[in-house]
Amino acid sequence: MAVSKIITGLFQKKILYENSPDKINFKLAHSWLKETYWCKGISLEKVEKGFRESTTVVSAHSGNRMVGIARCVSDTTRFGYIADVYVEESARGKGIARAMVRNLISQSSLRDVEHWYLFTKDAHGVYRDIGFRTYDKPERLMHLAATKK
Ligand SMILES: CC(C)(COP(=O)(O)OP(=O)(O)OC[C@H]1O[C@@H](n2cnc3c(N)ncnc32)[C@H](O)[C@@H]1OP(=O)(O)O)[C@@H](O)C(=O)NCCC(=O)NCCS
Repeated sequence: MAVSKIITGLFQKKILYENSPDKINFKLAHSWLKETYWCKGISLEKVEKGFRESTTVVSAHSGNRMVGIARCVSDTTRFGYIADVYVEESARGKGIARAMVRNLISQSSLRDVEHWYLFTKDAHGVYRDIGFRTYDKPERLMHLAATKK
């Protein structure tokens, strides 16, 4: 086994994965997400609502420090959409993002899900290892940006 994998394994033992929105430090989650390219400037209220209204959430904790978050929106039968995968900068490169996504897709409430989807600009490598592939029929994908009310 490669030394890096052993170190990752040792680190991973110290990470606790929680599946309750009540375990999420929303102020910290907001400070992360409001700087991302996909929801830049998002409000704290929207971050909290988004996680609380999701089908399943996960947060990663090192001691009493939250180091990662992710969520899944699903009909629990045919599809699941993974969103807001974020790992604090100092905790990156240790397998936490992959562990959170694996945690989400292996939840018993999502066992019937047939297709998993996500959008990413540049983190394809994180998900490829889990089995995700670029969608082979992009012409089937449609999008509508809601008009501001
Ligand atoms: C992307 C992100 C979630 C990865 O978290 P992480 O815990 O470091 O990821 P992991 O350790 O589980 O996996 C890292 C692996 O993915 C690869 N990778 C590919 N694209 C990457 C990217 N844009 N950022 C980080 N890692 C990337 C790494 O090379 C590494 O591969 P390896 O294990 O073969 O060496 C983290 O960098 C982050 O929060 N970035 C800012 C927010 C973001 O872009 N989120 C993704 C939205 S889809």
